[in-house]
Amino acid sequence: MMTAHRNGARAATPDVKQAAILIEHLRARYGGQDVLRDISLAIPPGCVYGLVGPSGSGKTTLMRTILGLKRIGSGQVTVLGRPAGDAALRSLIGYMPQNAAIYPDLSARENLEFFGAIYGVSAERISETIELVELGDVSHRAVMTYSGGQRQRVALAAALLARPPLLVLDEPTVGLDPRLRNRLWTLFDEQAKAGVTLLVSTHVMDEAAHTDHLAFLVDGQLVATGTPAALLEQTGAPTLEAAVLQLTEERLGA
Ligand SMILES: Nc1ncnc2c1ncn2[C@@H]1O[C@H](COP(=O)(O)OP(=O)(O)OP(=O)(O)O)[C@@H](O)[C@H]1O
Ligand SMILES: [Mg+2]
Repeated sequence: MMTAHRNGARAATPDVKQAAILIEHLRARYGGQDVLRDISLAIPPGCVYGLVGPSGSGKTTLMRTILGLKRIGSGQVTVLGRPAGDAALRSLIGYMPQNAAIYPDLSARENLEFFGAIYGVSAERISETIELVELGDVSHRAVMTYSGGQRQRVALAAALLARPPLLVLDEPTVGLDPRLRNRLWTLFDEQAKAGVTLLVSTHVMDEAAHTDHLAFLVDGQLVATGTPAALLEQTGAPTLEAAVLQLTEERLGA
């Protein structure tokens, strides 16, 4: 079990005007299919915001619209006060894609030096980030020799490297052991306390319980938003896992 998370002041009702990410009536399509259907969401700054939903529900697509990588069909996505995709946002968002974009023939340190050069990151910050994700022992070896979880952490380090105020992390803890997962959620919590906004997708409900807010997607639609506690209360379910199953079945059965 992971340590309990404190859903304190950060879990207050999102204020639309001060949202780090504001999504209004967003629709997006792939090949004529609606993938995101009328999503409206306000993600407050300085919190860990969880994005959960079954496989294929649109989590990655929603993240890609926030990053400006996926074209919006209609509606609006405003990120740190600017339209998604605005050039000024590039250095303000750290993105960890679901499929890690790292160079397998370079070491962790070389990968981070490469990404660091783009943002003018110091050698000291590179070393600090390597320690943060506990890759010190292997950081000089080529990434292709790493375990799955070690590779995962190189990608996470690349997202954290330049200390962006917004982190978009697509299933960052997949393939990690419980101790490392716990450490990363503690790290996310610390980042949020320091004012960073984190949007984190996950399939693991035990992890979703650690977020300040949750958005639950089914089939491209927003089924529920709120604190983990509110989601439990709303459904009357004993666990988040049960709450999410119940909401999924209600939606798909409807
Ligand atoms: N490039 C693409 N071309 C066509 N369809 C796509 C493309 N990318 C995603 N889709 C479709 O859009 C829907 C949403 O996909 P998305 O990757 O956003 O889901 P997800 O919630 O991230 O799933 P997972 O939990 O498996 O990562 C799926 O039906 C998927 O097949
Ligand atoms: Mg995905």
